[in-house]
Amino acid sequence: MDLQLTDKVVVVTGAASGIGQATARLLTEEGAIVVGVDRDPVDTGLGARGTAVQADLTDPATPAQVIATVLEQHGRIDALVNNAGGLHARSSFLDITDEQWLATFDLNFHAARRMSRAAVPVMLDSGGGSLLHVGSDSARLPEIGNMDYAAAKLPLLALSTSLATEFSPQGIRSNVVIPGPTRTPLYDRPGGFGDQAAALWSTDRESAITRMVTEIRPLLTGRIGQPDDVAQVVAYLVSPLSRQVTAAEWDVDGGALRRI
Ligand SMILES: NC(=O)c1ccc[n+]([C@@H]2O[C@H](COP(=O)([O-])OP(=O)(O)OC[C@H]3O[C@@H](n4cnc5c(N)ncnc54)[C@H](O)[C@@H]3O)[C@@H](O)[C@H]2O)c1
Repeated sequence: MDLQLTDKVVVVTGAASGIGQATARLLTEEGAIVVGVDRDPVDTGLGARGTAVQADLTDPATPAQVIATVLEQHGRIDALVNNAGGLHARSSFLDITDEQWLATFDLNFHAARRMSRAAVPVMLDSGGGSLLHVGSDSARLPEIGNMDYAAAKLPLLALSTSLATEFSPQGIRSNVVIPGPTRTPLYDRPGGFGDQAAALWSTDRESAITRMVTEIRPLLTGRIGQPDDVAQVVAYLVSPLSRQVTAAEWDVDGGALRRI
């Protein structure tokens, strides 16, 4: 199937790792010109025509700078994938500091809000575009271990629907993809969520991940997700093939949420 993404300019945040890296690679393979934004160097997945922008998305000044760079280099923006995010394993509400709450919201909500604010006027100028926000099953399955992250991912849903309501009539669609547990460096990097959960449960990283997808989040597919599972849905949702899809949420979670 041709996703009709040839020469489309797509901004992907969090493109140095995991779901964002897989998304950048797939979109590039589909012919898009990808701008990968990350606090870490984006050194794979962008092809010869792509652009890497190294920036901290929790800095309120970053989104306008990123969008100015995209315009300067590529002249337009057809889609924005707000993917950057992350979490720390928590042990109790009582142990989460005010600074930690604010940092979690800055990364998982305000970065996407500010990037959307910077990108929408440019999309309006060129007649439309597609906004895609990467949420989390945690927003609907809050627990002790993820409570600030769950709380910060929830308003992304309201943001996306509000953006869709205001701007779909002007050609800008807005949708959310909801990954469930997905095997990325978020789990596997040393000191990452896998190690943090292992420390909380007094076990090793592999056992902690197994417990996550069998007890905490039993997955109907019987396998943890892979970055490409999410990237393939993201690519469809930013493509013109999904032109009738807006204000929607797409679960890519192995059935963790199994919503009716
Ligand atoms: N992996 C999962 O199980 C899972 C499940 C549900 C939702 N998600 C969501 O999917 C998205 C991608 O997660 P992932 O698993 O690929 O994680 P990851 O840790 O592999 O990748 C996240 C990327 O975001 C970048 N990033 C983090 N903070 C940043 C900042 N301040 N400025 C710029 N870049 C920053 C990191 O450098 C990294 O490259 C996140 O929004 C995450 O919340 C992941």
